[in-house]
Amino acid sequence: MSVVKIDKVSRFYKNGLLTVTAVDQLSMELHKGDFSVIAGPSGSGKTTLLNLIGGLDKPSEGQVFIDGEPTQNKSEHQLSDLRREKIGFIFQAYNLLPVLTVYENIQLILQIQGIAEKLHKDKIFAILAELDLQDLHARMPAELSGGQQQRVAVARALINEPKLILADEPTANLDSESANKLMDLMQRLNNEKEVTFLFSSHDQMVIDKAKKVIRIRDGKLC
Ligand SMILES: Nc1ncnc2c1ncn2[C@@H]1O[C@H](COP(=O)(O)OP(=O)(O)OP(=O)(O)O)[C@@H](O)[C@H]1O
Ligand SMILES: [Mg+2]
Repeated sequence: MSVVKIDKVSRFYKNGLLTVTAVDQLSMELHKGDFSVIAGPSGSGKTTLLNLIGGLDKPSEGQVFIDGEPTQNKSEHQLSDLRREKIGFIFQAYNLLPVLTVYENIQLILQIQGIAEKLHKDKIFAILAELDLQDLHARMPAELSGGQQQRVAVARALINEPKLILADEPTANLDSESANKLMDLMQRLNNEKEVTFLFSSHDQMVIDKAKKVIRIRDGKLC
């Protein structure tokens, strides 16, 4: 069964009299263990597509299925449960909370999930060790490099052991060495834990590492 399936999905934006078709009747499928990239020029619809797949946005037309279940008639509440249980997001701007430490940024997800407090420390240190961040647990995001912040964002996306990770231009703000390290890490998680990944990127290094490249232009496959 597919982890994600989208069927003839479109997303229109109305700007006054003008309608922009950001995603245009697009169909695609992701299977368990995929390591795929959405590649396309600026404005081609990559972010819109990731938001639709992750249930952060609803299609104007067409259907999205997660684990075979249609998301169309789900309430906001049900959609947020689905995201919390199954999907990890990594955004370009990291979205770390500046007033919380590295540890607390990750702990927040466990608190939202209602995981018993006594389990937090072991879980968090295990994921920090995996990402070579254990020495930085008490730092604030502003005291970290871009690559380190990105790794914290990855740790936060992984802490609830999602089956699907969506990452919007994960290497966009990184130097090439940090970008390479991040990709190696994601590849390892993909190989060892069969986490399904979908990235967007226009970075050729990222595109070259993907097992499958989904090319889009003007919201369509090309
Ligand atoms: N909220 C919005 N309102 C109106 N138009 C929008 C909105 N968000 C995106 N668009 C338009 O939809 C199209 C696709 O945008 P999207 O952000 O998905 O592209 P992208 O491929 O992620 O681009 P980039 O590589 O620059 O991040 C663009 O023409 C954009 O201007
Ligand atoms: Mg984008």
